[in-house]
Amino acid sequence: MQTYEKPVIHPLHSGLMNKFAGATPAQRQVKSAIAGVAVEELVEQYGSPLFVYSERTLRRQFRTIRNAFATRYPDVTFGWSYKTNYLKAICAIFHQEGAMAELVSKMEYDKAKALGLPGNQIILNGPHKPFATLEAAVRDGVTINIDHLDEIEDLEAIATQLDRPVTVGLRLNLDAGIQPCWSRFGFNLESGQAMAAIQRIAQGGKLRINGLHSHIGTYILDPNAYARQVEKMVQFGYEIEATQGWRMDYIDIGGGFPSRSRLKGAYHAADVLLPTIDEYADAICDAMWKALKPGHTPKLIIESGRAMVDEAGTLITSVCGTKRLPNGTRAYVMDAGVNLLFTSFWYRFDLALAQPVPGVAEPSVIYGPLCMNIDVIDEQISLPPLSRGDRLVVSTVGAYNNTQWLQFIEYRPNVLLVTESGDVELIRAAEDITDLERREHLPPRLALQPIRDRNDSFTPTGGR
Ligand SMILES: Cc1ncc(COP(=O)(O)O)c(C=O)c1O
Repeated sequence: MQTYEKPVIHPLHSGLMNKFAGATPAQRQVKSAIAGVAVEELVEQYGSPLFVYSERTLRRQFRTIRNAFATRYPDVTFGWSYKTNYLKAICAIFHQEGAMAELVSKMEYDKAKALGLPGNQIILNGPHKPFATLEAAVRDGVTINIDHLDEIEDLEAIATQLDRPVTVGLRLNLDAGIQPCWSRFGFNLESGQAMAAIQRIAQGGKLRINGLHSHIGTYILDPNAYARQVEKMVQFGYEIEATQGWRMDYIDIGGGFPSRSRLKGAYHAADVLLPTIDEYADAICDAMWKALKPGHTPKLIIESGRAMVDEAGTLITSVCGTKRLPNGTRAYVMDAGVNLLFTSFWYRFDLALAQPVPGVAEPSVIYGPLCMNIDVIDEQISLPPLSRGDRLVVSTVGAYNNTQWLQFIEYRPNVLLVTESGDVELIRAAEDITDLERREHLPPRLALQPIRDRNDSFTPTGGR
C-alpha cells in the first residue's frame, strides 16, 4: 500500500555559486566504503549507527603535522589532547607515533596510566587537579602546568611533604588577537597577573618554573595569532629568567589547528578557508627563531587535538523514518543524532550517501532519534528522496564526538578501527542495559512486586 502525500512545489537549487567557484554539489557524493571497507558489510556485521576510524588517516595526519614542525624546529613534541578522543586505541596509536598525553582531569590521568604511559610522557593541564592527582603527578615526574593560585599552594604543600623543590610550568592566558580571548585558564599576561604569580612562587621558595603553556582557542584560522602568542611567551620567559634566573625548558602553545569540519555559518568551503599546516608551522617556527636568544632552543610542545583526529572518524547512520513537515520540507529521522554527534551544535558535517539514490534532490532536514526538538543534524541539506534503511556517511567526526557523546535516551553504538591493512577491529563495543544498570542501586523497599488482584500488574511495594 502506498501512502498519499500532498504535493508541494519547491524551487530547486542545483548549487549556489560563490566567487571562489565553490558550489553546493547538485549530486550528493556517494561514499560506499570507508577506508576501503564496504559500508554495507560494516553495518551487516556491527549494526547501525556505527563509528568507523581509519588507522591510516590517523597516522598520516599525525606524521604530516609532526613533519611540518620537525623540519622547521629542532625540538618539537606533541601532546595528544585526550579530551579530543580518549578511546584507548586512538590514544595508543598516537603514543606509538611518539606523542605524549595531554590530560586535564583525574579521569584522563587514570586513563593514561591504565594505558601504561610513564609520567615523563604526560602533561597535566586543566583547572581542576585534585590534590591526590597532583601528588601522584609530581611523584611520577609529570609535566604540570599551574592554572591558578590555589594550585601553587597545593604544589608547595607537596614539595614540603617530599622535602624537595618541585619544578613545574605556568599556564598563561594572553591576547593573541583571537576573540573571544580564553582568559579563564591560567594567569593573565598583559595585566601583570602572570608576573605576580612568578613573584609569589619565588617568595615561597619551594617551586621553580621551567616552562610556559597557553592555549589560545580552538579552530584558529589565523596562523599569525600563533606567531603573536609565541613571541609573547618567549619574551615572558626571558623576563622570568632575568628576574628569577629560571630558564624556560619548554614553550607549550596548546592546540587549536582547524580540521575540515566547517563551523556553522562559515561561507567558504574548507579548501578555501583553511590555511595549510605548513602555514601554521612557518608562522610558529619563524616566531620562535625570531624571539629566541642564540643557542637557546626550548622544547616546542604542541597539543593539537582536532586537526589530528577529526578526518579519521566517520559515522554511518540509517534512515528510520521519512516525513513531510507542515511547510512541505522533506525530513528524515535517523538512528544517530546529537547524542552521538554532539559537535553538530557548532559544526556542519559532510554528509554523503552510502549508495546512489535516484530522484530529484530537495532541501531536507536531518533529525536524530531523540524525542527532543534540538536533535537536528542538518537543517538544510539537498538530498534525493531517501527511504527507510538508506544510509548516510557522516564525516569528519573524529574530534570531540566520542568524548562528548551523550548516554541520553539511546545506547552508544560500536566503534570500529580499520587497520592499515584493511582489517576491521572493534575498539568499543555497543552499550546495553548492563552499562546503565551497573552503577545504580535500587533500595529493596522500592523493588517492584507483582500484584495479583489488579490488572495493571506492578506497583512499588512501599507505595501502599
Ligand atoms: C589545553 C588544551 N590543549 C589542547 C587542546 C586541543 O585543542 P584542539 O582540539 O583545538 O587542537 C585543548 C582544547 O580545548 C586544550 O584546552
